[in-house]
Amino acid sequence: MPVVVTTIAELRERIAAERRAALQDGPADAPVGRVVLVPTMGALHDGHLRLVSQARDLGGFVVVSVFVNPLQFGPAEDLDRYPRTLDHDVAALEGLADVVFAPSASEMYPNGEPATRITAGEAGTRFEGASRPGHFDGVLTVVAKLFNIVQPDVAVFGQKDAQQVHVIGRMVDDLDLPITIAVVETVREADGLALSSRNRYLEGDDRRAAVVLSQALAAGAAAAGDGVEAVLAAAWERIDDEPAVRLDYLVIVDPASFREVAPGYRGPALLLVAARVGSTRLIDNERLTIA
Ligand code: PAF
Repeated sequence: MPVVVTTIAELRERIAAERRAALQDGPADAPVGRVVLVPTMGALHDGHLRLVSQARDLGGFVVVSVFVNPLQFGPAEDLDRYPRTLDHDVAALEGLADVVFAPSASEMYPNGEPATRITAGEAGTRFEGASRPGHFDGVLTVVAKLFNIVQPDVAVFGQKDAQQVHVIGRMVDDLDLPITIAVVETVREADGLALSSRNRYLEGDDRRAAVVLSQALAAGAAAAGDGVEAVLAAAWERIDDEPAVRLDYLVIVDPASFREVAPGYRGPALLLVAARVGSTRLIDNERLTIA
């Protein structure tokens, strides 16, 4: 089983000891003392386990953080309802992680709400940020703290949260953080639904309706050869067929800038969708090349 650590001081000690031991004992060609961080909010599913197994494949010492970060939840969001399943998470990480870092909120924020935050700027106000004001500032603040605490060489994130990956990449560039960001493909159920900790709220008809999101992305991708408007029309048509799905946004962005592309755009793109199914808000995305 991975060791569970709840304090920053103990985690730092363990990582320092690991780096010292790797320097002394590691094979000459090993990635000496490499530390790989997988930040999570727990309630681990196969999508998270894919991130951790890719972290494992990178070699080195794998730290998985499990922390439901209050800063990234709005007042009307599901912070209290967010699933907390630490025992299950630790068991699921057997053979994959070396350490699980599971701090309390008071360990991470001993002074209560932090006065100093990282801001995602304008990129954090679009799409997810428009629906969830302050969300990305909360994400970047906790990720920056985790980066400072763990000082990983590599940090692993999932492509499903594409905008999160974008703003974290910007933070690493803007602040010259010496960390490589590795991005892992979305893991899906057999019918295409992207795995998410929130899928557990989907029951009966809502679960059946939720598959429309990935179907819409596939329909959009199939139209990529016919331009931006054809992609959006094909995806929209599929969503419009399912009355249980209330669309929040369906957009095509340039992956480099995360800005919506103009109608004549050609090149690499990301088709993003967010929608409510019952009371559950879901997001998904697909990489395309628009011709
Ligand atoms: O993707 C998540 O689970 C969270 O946003 C993260 C990166 C762990 C920060 O709390």
